[in-house]
Order: sequence, then C-alpha cells, then structure tokens
Amino acid sequence: MTDSKILYGGDYNPEQWPRAVWEDDYAAFDKASIDTVTLNVFSWATLQPDEDTYDFARLDEIVARAVEGGRGIVLATSTGALPPWLAHRHPEVERTDFQGRRHVFGQRHNACPSSPVYRRLSAELAGRIAERYAGTPGLVAWHVGNEYGGFDGGCWCDLCAAGFRDWLRARYGTLERLNEAWNATFWSHTFSDWAQIVPPNMLSEHWRGPDHTAFQGITLDYRRFMSDAMLANYRDEKARIREHDATTPVTTNFMGMFRPIDYHRWAADLDFASWDNYPPGPREHARMALAHDVMRGLKDGAPFWVMEQTPTITASRDVNPVKRPGVLRLWSWQAVAHGADAVLYFQMRQSKGASEKYHGAVLDHAGRTDTRAFREVAALGGELAGLGDAVVGARTPARVALLFDWDSWWVAEMTDGFNRHARYVDTVLAYYRALWQAGAQVDVVPTTADLSRYDVVLAPMLHVLKGDVAERLAAVTERGGSVLASFWSGRADEDANAYLMDAPGPLAPLFGVRVEETDSAEPGVANPVTLTDGADEVVSAARLVFEVLVPEGADVVGTYGTEFYAGTPAVTRHRPGGADGGEAWYVATGLDDAGVGWVVRRVLDRHGLVGPYADVPDVELAVRSKDGVRFAFVLSHATGPVEVVAHASGVDLLTGRAVRQGETLRLDPTDVVLLREDTREDSPGEPA
Ligand code: GLA
Ligand code: ZN
Repeated sequence: MTDSKILYGGDYNPEQWPRAVWEDDYAAFDKASIDTVTLNVFSWATLQPDEDTYDFARLDEIVARAVEGGRGIVLATSTGALPPWLAHRHPEVERTDFQGRRHVFGQRHNACPSSPVYRRLSAELAGRIAERYAGTPGLVAWHVGNEYGGFDGGCWCDLCAAGFRDWLRARYGTLERLNEAWNATFWSHTFSDWAQIVPPNMLSEHWRGPDHTAFQGITLDYRRFMSDAMLANYRDEKARIREHDATTPVTTNFMGMFRPIDYHRWAADLDFASWDNYPPGPREHARMALAHDVMRGLKDGAPFWVMEQTPTITASRDVNPVKRPGVLRLWSWQAVAHGADAVLYFQMRQSKGASEKYHGAVLDHAGRTDTRAFREVAALGGELAGLGDAVVGARTPARVALLFDWDSWWVAEMTDGFNRHARYVDTVLAYYRALWQAGAQVDVVPTTADLSRYDVVLAPMLHVLKGDVAERLAAVTERGGSVLASFWSGRADEDANAYLMDAPGPLAPLFGVRVEETDSAEPGVANPVTLTDGADEVVSAARLVFEVLVPEGADVVGTYGTEFYAGTPAVTRHRPGGADGGEAWYVATGLDDAGVGWVVRRVLDRHGLVGPYADVPDVELAVRSKDGVRFAFVLSHATGPVEVVAHASGVDLLTGRAVRQGETLRLDPTDVVLLREDTREDSPGEPA
C-alpha cells in the first residue's frame, strides 16, 4: 500500500465507451486529483471468451493507459459475475436460491461457491491475470471477486449440500456429536447417516424466510459453512495471485454490517479490510461510523479502505436522493476519521446502459467537469492531496470496546419466541450511537479480541456466549473496568442451544442478576423506566423486550413503571469486587436513546471518557494518532449551525488555521475540522 497520501479514485470501466473518451476521463481525473483506479471488476466474458481461450488485449490497453497516467491501480480478478458461455456449458456453476430453484444465466454474484468448475476456472483466471499484471507500475492492491454473498447470501444446491456434509464431518467427527449439537431428539431429527443431511432452506427447515427455521443449530452451521465456502473461493484466487506476486496486498470489498457473511471468519485472509459504504438514508452518520469501526476491527485496528461510495446517487433503491452539498465531503472525512486510508468511488464515469446507467459517478454521461458533483469531488481530491501522508497509517486510541458477533446476530434473529421486532444491529447501534454522541473512541471487535487494553467493554445482545468471554469480561471488572450487557445476552451456547441455567447464563455471576421471565410487546407499546442515581433522574420509554430480573448482588438503577412487574429492576449495576472495583451494568429492556445515553454516559464518565462535544447533538469527534501526534476530526452532522469550544490547541490541517484551546468554533452543517493537536502524547493507538 502506498503511504504517501490517502488514495482517491475508484471503479473505472472504460470498456463501455470509445477509446477517445478515455483521454477526457484522464484529463478530468487530473482536475480532481484522482490518483487511483479500480479496473477489471466485471470482465470475465471478454477476458475468457470460451473455456480454452483467454484474451487480454483490451485489459492490456486499459492497464497501459492507467500506467501512462501514473495512477495507482487496484486490479480486480473479474470473478464476481459469470460469463454466459460458462453458465450455458456448465449449468451447475449457477447458484440455487433459498427457495431451492436452480438459476439460469443472468445477474452477477451468481456462482455456486462449491462448484468445482467455478472454483477451477475462477482460480485459473485470477492466476492468469496475476501472471500477466504482477509488477505493473502503480499496482497498489488486488481486488478478488466482488461483494461476496451479494445476491441472497449463498447457494443451496446439491454441491453445497455435499460440501456442508464434509464441513459438518470436519466439525463434529461423529453423528452423535452432531445430533447432540443440533438437539436432534427434538421433532425426531436424529440423523443416522450423513447422507440424510440437507441444506436448511424453504424446502426443508424454513418457513416464511431465512429467519424462520425449525432448527437454529442447522441453520447456524449452514451459515458458518456458506461463509467458509465463499472464503474458500477467495482463498483459491489469492493463492494463485501469490504464485506470481508475493507482496502486493490482496483484499475484497466487504459490505460493512452484512449479515450473510461472518467477516471475522475472513479477516485473517485479507491483507487489509475494505468496504462499500452505501448508507440506507441521509441521516445515518452513527450507523456509518459503526460500520467503519466494524471494518477497522477486522484487522486489529489497522487502517482500512472505503472501496466504494457514490459521489451522488445510488441506483438500486426505490428512491435515490442525491447527496446534498457538502455531504460527500463530510462522509469522506468521516471515513478517514475512523481509519480509512483510501476513499474510492463507484464509479468514475456513468455506465452507458443496464441497471446502473443512472447510478451516480464522478463524470456523468456527458463527461462534464462543470457539474456540482464534479466540483465537490475535485475539491475533496484537492484537500486529500494537500493533507499528504499526515494521517496515513494512524490508529484509533480507543479505551472502549464494543463486541460485535455474527453468531449472536444470526441466532438472535432466527430464534422463535420473544420478539421478532428486536433486531441485533438496532440494539448494537443504539449503544454505539450513545458512545458516538459522547465522543468516545471505540474499537468494535470480535468476542475473541484481547479485552485487557480497554477500560469499558459493551456487549449488547450478546445472545451466543462462547469460549471464555464470560471470564474475560469478568477480568475487565477485576481490574476496575466497566462492562455492560443488554437483554438476550448469554442465552445460547456455541451450538445455539440454551444454557441449562438461569439467564444470562455464564454471565449471571458477573452481572449479579437472574432473568426470571422475558416479556415482549408490540413496537408501539412503551413501559416507562425510571433511571436514577440519586441526583439525576430520567424516564426512558422502554420497548419490545422486558426481562423480569431478580437481583443477586446487583444494585437497582432503573425500574419498570407499568405491568405486573412495575417497580422491579430494569437496569442494574453490580460491583462484584466491592465498592472500589469495577462495574457490571445490565440493561434488561430496550431503552430509548435517552435511556441508553443516560446509562452509557455514566459508564464512560467513571473512566473520564466522555468527550468534549458530548452535549452538542450530531457533532462527532473521531481521533487518530500516529507517532505521538493526535489528529482530532470534528465533524458536524447537525442540520443547523452549532458552536463548540475547542478542546485543544493545534492547527486545522484543512484550512491551515491555528486553533486555540477554549476558543469558540462555529460549525456550519457538514463542516469538518481536522485538528493536529499541539500536545503530543504516547500513542495509545499503536500496538505494543
Ligand atoms: C456495489 C458493487 C458495484 C456497484 C455498486 C452500486 O457496491 O460492488 O459494482 O454495483 O454497488 O452502488
Ligand atoms: Zn451451490
């Protein structure tokens, strides 16, 4: 990876327009300080016109033009969409959907991951591309496939069924172990031959869709298997690339909080993480921040890339509003603030036809450079170029960890009973939003992460409790730290079976509570929970899930206001080591933002981790640090002007202006300040 500046550019598909236009493209790239192009994402049909023929003539030209232009090149392997001849000649390469229907040629992200023909030919193509283009000047990264799982998250064909059985044999060894893990005595499911096992889909264990399964254990294992099967595809290609290029980093573009694939299972195989940032709406700044942090957490805090974002509009939604003036800049700096060392677009010039013909691009169909969108892209390009290498490689000095766990996400949302409206990401986001608003720097990490470097660890809806997580959370409080868990935590083991003990299972001693009943209500119904710590009191409208708690050592901080459990605890705080030790907070219900904010602020406050702008709504503080220098990004997502008091002295690297600690900063909507703080510190973000 280049370390001279934040990379800027994106997907470029010049195969769609005449050669002469390429010159206009590059002239425009120069105007916008675009230094990086991602090439060859979907060209399999041209690169390999039939099974025995490869033709790199056009790609040679495209690559040569990029080299001539001195661009960084992200070279893709083109295996994210099958060529028609392949599907026609080998129909088994097409995926079978969740309904059990074998697809015919069409779309993209359409291959069965278990197909030997697909695996052979995709690896072969990646190998030939690597052989031909390894050593290309400016090659910054290899981009394998595209958005794995991007159709409906997998395949349910006979080849995958066979692969699933192999995967299960490797995991369980014997059918006895498998039957035990799946609790197969339920509904007469005891398997007596591996051949009896079929993929869980609408023809077998499911009804209504992916979240309704008769056997969570079977569906959970199938998701793990499918995640691993697609990972095997990625590994096939990476191995072939490595035969020709030992050093250029290899990655694939993830999708942030994308449920079908457990990105933690993939992380070790990526040389750096990257993702495509397409938020579901215009006011999702906390959700984007969370997704960035999930991505940064994949590689232990190392910088990641935004591989794609739209400069203007998406094309896939029913309604596709444009990014308002300033928003592209704001969201791009937000990505950098959270650890991105590349800000790339989909796409450089608008597609001529097909489903993305109106998707936004740096250059429109006319190739104009006098549009608002182009001007904003160019201005941002200028700023990134001006910043140089200042923050490249910088880490996030986080004292707070938030556990993110695909097994919990999967199992909590596929489980009958309780409340289908309570969603994993909603719950995690509620806690993250409170941390974000408070200005705490947060690492979002897998449950296997080293927790010893954090003062505060939050584990919202940690439904599946596996390994030694309970012990490691307890260790946080033993050294004086704080932990927090929410409803539905510690309910199921690694096989998705219930713990044969009080909820929250092995977490119960740490939190000093037991759950006696779990009540649920429709989304419109609220139970007022009064939270108080003596001086300060707030009433929070709690929704969806209401666990009835019996304290076993914990102090009551919040109580329900209605129902037969009115007056009983809804939020508790346990000090397992006595008054001087750490704290374990348990939130038994779905508090509203005010309630979650109240709790989270108290937890952070104890460790001095409430940030300087915590009381200014929608003003974000994100910090990166490198070699003892802190870079504080102050980002205004507010809809009107706000004033804040500068928390430190330094230089705003975007304007060159000196900022004095204590001075008033007026921030208009979408404003960004990048303060290089004067005061140096030991870099807490650097790994030891
Ligand atoms: C995804 C894909 C791109 C393109 C964009 C459009 O991220 O990777 O090929 O389809 O979406 O938003
Ligand atoms: Zn398949």
